[in-house]
Amino acid sequence: AQQQGTLSLAVNDTGTVISRHIYGHFSEHLGRCIYDGFWVDPGMNVPKKDRIRLDVVEALKKIRIPNLRWPGGCFADEYHWRDGIGLRNNRPKMINTHWGGVTEDNSFGTHEFLELCSLLGTEPYIAGNVGSGTVEEMSKWVEYLNASGETPMTRLRKENGRDRPWKVSFWGVGNESWGCGGNMTPEYYANEYRRYATFARNYPDAPLKKIAAGANSADYNWTEVIMKNIPRHMMWGLSLHHYTIPTGKWNQKGSATAFDEKEYFNTMKNCLFMDELITRHAAIMDKYDPEKRVALVVDEWGIWTDVEPGTNPGFLYQQNSLRDALIAATTLNIFNNHADRVRMANLAQTINVLQSLILTKGSDMLLTPTYYVFDLYQPHMDAKRVPLQIETPGYTNGGQQLPAVNASASINAKGKLCITLVNIDPANDRTIQASLPGLKYKKVSGSVLTGKAFTDVNTFENKKKVAPAPFTGAQLTGQALTVTLPRLSIVQLLLD
Ligand code: AHR
Repeated sequence: AQQQGTLSLAVNDTGTVISRHIYGHFSEHLGRCIYDGFWVDPGMNVPKKDRIRLDVVEALKKIRIPNLRWPGGCFADEYHWRDGIGLRNNRPKMINTHWGGVTEDNSFGTHEFLELCSLLGTEPYIAGNVGSGTVEEMSKWVEYLNASGETPMTRLRKENGRDRPWKVSFWGVGNESWGCGGNMTPEYYANEYRRYATFARNYPDAPLKKIAAGANSADYNWTEVIMKNIPRHMMWGLSLHHYTIPTGKWNQKGSATAFDEKEYFNTMKNCLFMDELITRHAAIMDKYDPEKRVALVVDEWGIWTDVEPGTNPGFLYQQNSLRDALIAATTLNIFNNHADRVRMANLAQTINVLQSLILTKGSDMLLTPTYYVFDLYQPHMDAKRVPLQIETPGYTNGGQQLPAVNASASINAKGKLCITLVNIDPANDRTIQASLPGLKYKKVSGSVLTGKAFTDVNTFENKKKVAPAPFTGAQLTGQALTVTLPRLSIVQLLLD
């Protein structure tokens, strides 16, 4: 069955740029993301630089990841950066109390992370320790990273083999300070932020973009208190964390691979909630910052399911299905449509943890359906947003209804239009009629990511079960565009 919808593009209202930093990623010292993900055993038979796995680096370079957040997450507020510098054999070991109670040998530290960023061609986003650290510790880390004159920290950095400052720019002042980052009230955190941020200095040519730890999902009071109590000039961004939990219950989140349509519907509903969340947090920010100087930074998002059976519950290893790709594509459409306030975001987490782009098994690796979404959405990075309105038929289940189709659009510097559309309905193809008034495009091309079932996954035995294919379901006649979106699909259209 096919049902029709319409799409109107406000092509004369392209004042907002979709920051490429919306397409950022996150890698925590958690499970097999850093260790056995990016940073592997010296004996592993894969291409490596030092212990950094280069096949993974190559895959991520192809999708031009713009920034990488590190070292946590909850881990950030128990990480002491001095433990991760100097001769590796001399680095102290610690217990990673948050994530599986495993031994952290600190072999991957500041130098290794920044080497990884340089290989990836991506910007580092470092989260400093507020929960169990000190103002001095954070201040010295910034000095170690960014100062260029003669100082105790630059001397130490040079002794450790790095002459030039790295000039790290994105700087998180704590993480989830309402929870694992210290169980603080927003009033207390706001004061702490002011103290920590004061001594996280801007060095020559290395101004920091400081990001305050933001709300847990719908905790609007957190955003209100932070915006009220931290002067705007002290804060480049304010974060927001929101995970899509299939069942909505933290103690039993639901399987990554075995779920029925009712659970699928519920998951998509929880995912679409991101639009309301951003709208409401942004409205609070507008009260204190009508010029929208402070960015909303959604620096943890994605689907969080139960772990794969038989794996360490503290490692958060989950498979990645077509459902996850639909979540990624829908969420990125939401971010694009809110690009006036959302200027950075980080999917949790890049390899082997939560909604990953890459899964590894020994020396083998595979690209998940979610990876391909980031591939298809690349044209939006730093392009001008085209606001849109969509009239879509509903996707109904159990007496509830969701919009079946969502979309976002942008125009790049060469005038090329990119539209990304998602049809979340498992039963119905959808035809969307779009008019492109005043635009003279001659041809439309594109790609589609789809599959037979929302539970489809890529496995080490069948790595390309969910992979993009050329899309032929769009017709352009003058200024009229007709697109037929297959059921359960993500479609990227490029108009020249
Ligand atoms: O991404 C996993 C965890 O989720 C992070 O460490 C924490 O910030 C959040 O609660």
